[in-house]
Order: sequence, then structure tokens, then C-alpha cells
Amino acid sequence: MTTSLQDIAHAMAAPGKGLLAADESSGTIKKRFDVIGVDSTQENRRDSRERLFRTAPAMADLISGVILFDETIRQKAADGTPLVKIIQDAGSIPGIKVDMGAKDLPRSNGEKVTEGLDGLRARLAEYFELGARFAKWRAVIDIGRGGNRSVPSAYCIHANTHALARYAALCQEAGIVPIVEPEVLMDGDHDAERCYQVTQATLKALYSELYEQRVSLEGTILKPNMIVSGKLCPTKASPEEVAERTLKCFTHTVPAAVPGIVFLSGGQSDIDATANLNAINQLKSASSEVYPWAFSFSYGRALQTAPLDAWRGKAANVTAGQKAFAHRARMNGLAATGAWTPEMET
Ligand code: 13P
Repeated sequence: MTTSLQDIAHAMAAPGKGLLAADESSGTIKKRFDVIGVDSTQENRRDSRERLFRTAPAMADLISGVILFDETIRQKAADGTPLVKIIQDAGSIPGIKVDMGAKDLPRSNGEKVTEGLDGLRARLAEYFELGARFAKWRAVIDIGRGGNRSVPSAYCIHANTHALARYAALCQEAGIVPIVEPEVLMDGDHDAERCYQVTQATLKALYSELYEQRVSLEGTILKPNMIVSGKLCPTKASPEEVAERTLKCFTHTVPAAVPGIVFLSGGQSDIDATANLNAINQLKSASSEVYPWAFSFSYGRALQTAPLDAWRGKAANVTAGQKAFAHRARMNGLAATGAWTPEMET
């Protein structure tokens, strides 16, 4: 039986569930392992991920899908079980990161464009055979420091959203749901209002490109940033302010046909990522406006920093690592329905 793109997208955005982004490239996972003093060997990368996928019942109850890296989708656990099968057996959907990273955008002021379209049709066909039913492509949009309004340029937004739509159309042709991820970075000293303006311009361009390139929105998932202040901004927007600006931004830009919006954590603290998601869902329920999308999480760092810190590469800490993962998954699952309170953290 084939499942439609729309069915897969709805399963990914199921109420109270979210995605685990375990698709760090080899360079990124090395950085995460360096922090806890663990060597980034193929075995350590596999074992640390396998443990998350085997965390019961958190995986089955709270994680609708897992984004994998090319290495991981091909890996087998120590007992010979493919990692993809462990995810499927937990009732979760395997997905795959297919972009080849953000590279320098030529003739720009230090901006980036995500590459990976060459040969993508053939790679998607192989990933489908390996079990992937959704994919991810991340574009990064930087915001200029010190009020520099020339970054991001319209050129950067156009190049990135065009590539996102090219990727999304190829995914749908292959029977794979595209997660479209235009990440407006929170590095920098900009305030939340500037994040709002840049995210609004980016999403407007993205949905215009998706329309031009005939992408069926019902079979997509949006993975955006929340509207937050830059990390170096002297004033930090509260969860209520984040929720208000984020919902306003999407109302102005995201078509109602999109089934689900899953946020990246983007360098927010674990608690901020949870509190802000919770505030967004609380405002959604309390408001007289109708917001047609499910709001949930597709967190990398905000789900994995705590378990990595608890594990630190020691066999004796494996259970503590799984407990830390289950806790963050549960907190974010509650936030995905607006039912989280800070007291639940203790
Ligand atoms: P973070 O939640 O750590 O930002 O990662 C999510 C992700 O998949 C970025 O592409």
C-alpha cells in the first residue's frame, strides 16, 4: 500500500508529537562530541543515535519522525538491526537530510546558499528504497550586524528559496515529503522585530517559489525559526512576545494548505525552545483567530544536548542519557499542545 504525501505529512505533525533531528553532518556531530570529550568515530556516532532510537516509550509516544544523515540511514546496530528498522518498529517515520550544506554565495556580502540539487533525483530514489519517507533541506539566512540592512540581500533570499522549491518538487516526484527549512539565524544583535521582517520576506519568497514550481503544499512540512531576538540583542523577547510575532508572521505568509509547522531550536536553550513552543500553542488555543496548522518541534540541539551531556561517552551513563532524552521529548510533547509548565521541569 502506498501512503500519500498528505498522509505522511499529517502523521509527521500528529498532535503532541514532533521530530527528532539526528542528521548532524560529520563535522557538526564532531563539534557536539568535542564538548563532551568523545571521539567522533563511526561506532560512537552510531551508538549515540541508536540509544535515542531505542528509548521506549518516548520514541513511540512523542517522536513522529527522525531526520537521519546519509551515514546513519545505511547503518546497522551492533546486533545487526538496521537503524531504520529500529525507528520503524518504534512507530516513527525515517527521514533524510539531502542538502549538501550552505556554501558561499558568489558575489554576495558573505551570504550563503545551500547546495545539493545535482544528482538529487537519483539520491532521492535510493533514499526511498532505504526507507525514507520525508526529507530535509536547510537554507540559512543571516541578519546583518549593527543594523546592516543589506544582509540578507534579496539575491540571497531568492537563490535559497528557489533551491528549496527545486528540492521540494523533486522530493514529491519521488514520493517523499519535503521539509522546507528556511532558517533565519538567531546569531547577531538584531531585535525580534527585525527577525520578524526578515522571516516574513523569506516566507513570502518561499511560498511564491513553491507555487511557481508546482509543489503541492498539502504534502509539505515547514520548518522555520521562531520570531526571536538575536543572541547578542540586549533585550530578549518573552515567550508571549515570541508567540505573538510568530503567529502574526505566519498568518501573513504561510498558506492554510500547509499541514504542519515544526520549529528548529536554532541555538535557543532547552527551556527557551520548550517555553516558546508552549506559548505559541497556548496563544493558538486562546485566540479568536483560527490558525490552521499544527505547531510542533523538529529539534536537534534542544533534544540532544541534555542526553549527550548525561552520557559523556560512558557505558555507565547510557540509561541516564536515555532518561534525559525522554524528559526533553516529553516536555516538548507537552509544549506542542500548550500543556507545559516550568514546574514540570523539576
Ligand atoms: P537545531 O534544533 O539544533 O537548530 O537543529 C534542527 C535542525 O535540523 C537544523 O537543520
